[in-house]
Amino acid sequence: MSKIASREIRLVSRPKGIPTANNFALAQTELEPLQDQQVLVRNLFMSVDPYMRGRMNDRKSYVPPFELGKPLEGGAVGEVIESRVREFKPGDAVTSNFGWRECFIASPKELRPVSREIQPLSVYLGALGMTGMTAWVGLNLVEIKAGDVIFISGAAGAVGNVAGQLAKLRGCHVIGSAGSAEKVQFLREECGFDIAFNYNVGPVLEQLNLAAPDGIDVYFDNVGGETLEAALAALRVNGRIIACGGISGYNEEKPRPGPSNLFSIITKRLTIKGFIVRDWLDRLGEFEKEAGDYFRAGKLKNKKTVVEGIDQAVSAFIGLFEGRNIGKMVVKLT
Ligand SMILES: NC(=O)c1ccc[n+]([C@@H]2O[C@H](COP(=O)([O-])OP(=O)(O)OC[C@H]3O[C@@H](n4cnc5c(N)ncnc54)[C@H](OP(=O)(O)O)[C@@H]3O)[C@@H](O)[C@H]2O)c1
Repeated sequence: MSKIASREIRLVSRPKGIPTANNFALAQTELEPLQDQQVLVRNLFMSVDPYMRGRMNDRKSYVPPFELGKPLEGGAVGEVIESRVREFKPGDAVTSNFGWRECFIASPKELRPVSREIQPLSVYLGALGMTGMTAWVGLNLVEIKAGDVIFISGAAGAVGNVAGQLAKLRGCHVIGSAGSAEKVQFLREECGFDIAFNYNVGPVLEQLNLAAPDGIDVYFDNVGGETLEAALAALRVNGRIIACGGISGYNEEKPRPGPSNLFSIITKRLTIKGFIVRDWLDRLGEFEKEAGDYFRAGKLKNKKTVVEGIDQAVSAFIGLFEGRNIGKMVVKLT
């Protein structure tokens, strides 16, 4: 049987600061003919995510660094083209961690079946996928409840917009910050945020104080930096922080000093809870049920920014650090 042609994105040098196209290469490759107990999958959509930036450094973290000269990895949804296993048949939709490539061969345990009833399948990378689950885990971690005033940064992104929608469904008063007027409009008009502001038009603390003159109960942190400092100042006594991400520092070559007001954790008896979504996979079924029910009922939107073609994947990834996405940034591959 003949070999299968595919293209993939490889990391060829480690970025310093913001990644550039020169750190990556689009390579042509050939997959070996399928063996027993293997499945051939063609990716339909792949995800680009901020955490991938950390894996491009040669530094130990909660996931090993990407290897130079090898294809990158990440979330993807694809369809089975050929199968030599009982569990999958051609046409099945599957998710995997084999993103950044057009086709791949995997064992059945590396694939997860998903229903084609929900379309487009890119939803499994967004509201019903890893980023949606991150929003859900973060909110559960601080036991969000009706009446809480919650402030979400990076609010128009993949995690942030779902966190805001879920918090609204749970009866919270939701405030969001994002980097453009268009994003602010999206948060207010499509996601139901009570208040949203553009952090580029004035200091975050000033805008947050105007949005929440009596303070906030919960801060969902996606960005760190100045916004975390402002949230620490605005949190009420016994406030809670969901430490989800810190994208404002991902491209810094030297770690920046932390917020100047960390001492308020003590004076205001604050709780900060950090988490990594993959530690919560035993709750995946529960998340899928809750988010899936909301989605089917039209109560949870899956906003996305779609970039077409594997040759545009690097640009889409870099775009995350330039704020080019509203909702989940996905790359359509076929
Ligand atoms: N803990 C976990 O398990 C987990 C899992 C998934 C994601 N995360 C984290 O959650 C955060 C959001 O991830 P996501 O997938 O939803 O990404 P995203 O928000 O969809 O995309 C990135 C967004 O971040 C904003 N941004 C970029 N540079 C910034 C800067 N210097 N300062 C402030 N905002 C900046 C941009 O929006 P603006 O135009 O608004 O600036 C951009 O659109 C990230 O920090 C990510 O690492 C954590």
